[in-house]
Parts: sequence; C-alpha cells; structure tokens
Amino acid sequence: MNESVFLQACRRELTAYTPVWLMRQAGRYMAEYRALRERVPFLTLCKTPELAAQVTVEAVERLGVDAAIIFADILLIVEPMGVGLEFSQGDGPVIHRPVRSGADVDNLREADPRETVPFVFEAVKKARAELPAHIPLIGFSGAPFTVASYMIEGGGSRNYVETKRLMYNDPGAWRALMERLVRLITAYMNAQIAAGAQAVQLFDSWIGCLSPADYRTFILPHMQTLFAGITPGAPVIHFGTGTSGLLELMAEAGGTVLGVDWRVDLDVAWRRIGYGRAVQGNLDPVTLFASQTEIRRQVRRILEMTHGRPGHIFNLGHGILPQTPVENVIGLVEMVHEISEDLRVKSEE
Ligand code: CP3
Repeated sequence: MNESVFLQACRRELTAYTPVWLMRQAGRYMAEYRALRERVPFLTLCKTPELAAQVTVEAVERLGVDAAIIFADILLIVEPMGVGLEFSQGDGPVIHRPVRSGADVDNLREADPRETVPFVFEAVKKARAELPAHIPLIGFSGAPFTVASYMIEGGGSRNYVETKRLMYNDPGAWRALMERLVRLITAYMNAQIAAGAQAVQLFDSWIGCLSPADYRTFILPHMQTLFAGITPGAPVIHFGTGTSGLLELMAEAGGTVLGVDWRVDLDVAWRRIGYGRAVQGNLDPVTLFASQTEIRRQVRRILEMTHGRPGHIFNLGHGILPQTPVENVIGLVEMVHEISEDLRVKSEE
C-alpha cells in the first residue's frame, strides 16, 4: 500500500493505473492559494517553510494526484548570486542586474545553497513529514539554459537575443556560466534529495528555442555533467517544452524520465526517446478550458498511445494556467485514474 505508483512508473514497473501529477498544481487557479497570496508576497511564501509546505500538501489533498512537488521557484537560486531578483505584480520575474559579459559571469557570487536558500530544504523536510507515506515528494530546479536565460535577459523573453548573443559571441563566458550553474544546480538538487525529495525534476522550459546543433555544442556536455552529479537512486525527470526537434539529444543528455509536451504525439516521442526510459506528459494545458467531454476524449487518446507499456506518468505538457477551472483539474485526475485502470483491465482480458 505504501509503494508509490509514481515511483514505480519512473522505474517502468507495471502499475494498476497511470500515475498523474500536474506542473504548477499549486498556484493561482486555486482559490486557497489566491487567498494566501493576498496576505503574503510570492517570495515570502517561498521563503517561509511552513507556508510552502502547506501549499504543497494542500494541492495534493485537493486534487488527488499521485505526487507532490515542493512549492518553490526556479529563480530562488539566482538571487544569492547577486543579480537582484524581484517578482513584480503581473509582469513576472525581473532581474535587476542582468549578466551580459564574461566580467559579469566572473562577478557572480558562488555559495553553498544549504547556506543561501536553507528555507527550500526546510520546506522539503516539512512537506515530506506532512504527506501520506504513499505520496512521493518531487524536488526541482531550473536547468542551466533556462536559468541562464532569465539571468541574461533580465526576465522572460520571446527571442532570447541576449542569451544567444552571449552564447555565440563569447563561448568562453558561456562555458563559465554553464559550469557555475551546473555546480550550483547539482548541489541544490542533491540537498533537496538529502532533505527528503524522492525524485527531482529539471525544468528546461525554454530549451526548445535552440537548434539541435546548438544544443549539442552549447548545452549537451553541461547537461551530461549535471546528470552524472545527481545522487543515485532518486529518479530525475528531464523536462522541456517545444522540444520536438531535441528529444533524442535530451535523452542522450540524461534523465530517468523524459518530459514531452503536446506538440508531438506521445507514441512518436516515446519511440524516439527509446523504450528504456519512462515518459511524462503530454496534455495541452489549454485543454483544461474545454468541456469535460473533450478533456476525457483527449485523456483517453494519450493513454491509448502508450499501448499499455509501463513507464508513463500522466502530466500536462506545461504548467496549469492561472485561469483554469479547478473542477476540470480535479476531473482530469479522476479521468486518468479511471480510464487507465479500465484500459489495463481490458488488456488483461
Ligand atoms: O508546480 C508546482 O506546483 C510547484 C511550484 C512552481 C512554481 N514555479 C511556483 C510559481 C514551479 C515548479 C515553478 C517553476 C518555474 N518558475 C518555471 C519552470 C516551469 C515552467 O512554467 O516552465 C519557471 C519558468 C519559473 C519562473 C517563473 N516563476 C515565472 C515566469 C513566473 C511568473 C509567471 C506566473 O505564472 O506568474 C513565476 C512565478 C510563480 N512561480 C508563481 C507560482 C505559483 C506565480 C506567483 C504568484 O503567486 O503570483
């Protein structure tokens, strides 16, 4: 009873039903979260372990998902490097002193995350203690490219002009930045594992803006170093979006589980990634704005594409959007459990 279907699926073991959790499962689409955020600014919430753990656990209880993800943000590790981080109302994250040169890279502070962001590991410990034994806790970090893109652009970006300019024009500075981020992210993920996270996800959310050739040259070696440094035993989910052109390279980089978004069919993606690896995905988050009849149709379609092969973790192809109707999210979790169990029983008949 205490064995987690999520961890079994990461190991590609047969489960009675397909496990499901959702990126951004704790967030503004939930009334409880919005109520809390009226009292507490986002960064304060991330830095208060009691509240971060509470938000993490509440989402699991509300949705009935098979895994929890620690409430935090991929930019928390950026602040102690000295670039000035702010979450402004409505505009998303802002970095006040963006990194634009080799000198800027050299000036970044490097410190042990256990000293700079201890609140994350405290939140992991608390959330782990509060969760039921069969619900694993997922830790996470941004991947080097995606974190670097915020540090260099100074916020979100459409074309990643400054990021690619540094990458192309100053490969030495780029390498130095990647190497720093790999050291930091490895330490950060391992400290979350040590604090009780049973799996970790690397969010390379914006990696899909790169050509395969640039991924191979500028990203792949650093990702391989990163995966090699993660404490063995905890499954690592390697996630990106817009990655239809990069799936083989991302598999070559590493990860126990590969994240797949909705721009590629799950069966095609899995064949390309290789059946020696589990996959996670891949419903379009905007489907959750449709009727439950349509959601059900799309859930069934995705589940059928696995042809009963063990090692699928159901998720969206990207995070839940803020305006999503909460009843559709709850309905989605029920549908995944019900339809996948039904398909499993039918395949045994
Ligand atoms: O999945 C979960 O429930 C855990 C929580 C989580 C957050 N951010 C909380 C959050 C996770 C896993 C993240 C990761 C994250 N943060 C990513 C990678 C995932 C992705 O979406 O691609 C990125 C790119 C960020 C950076 C970030 N944080 C942005 C661009 C924004 C602003 C956009 C937005 O949705 O508001 C944030 C803020 C943020 N992180 C919020 C939450 C719940 C909203 C803050 C609020 O309450 O206003």
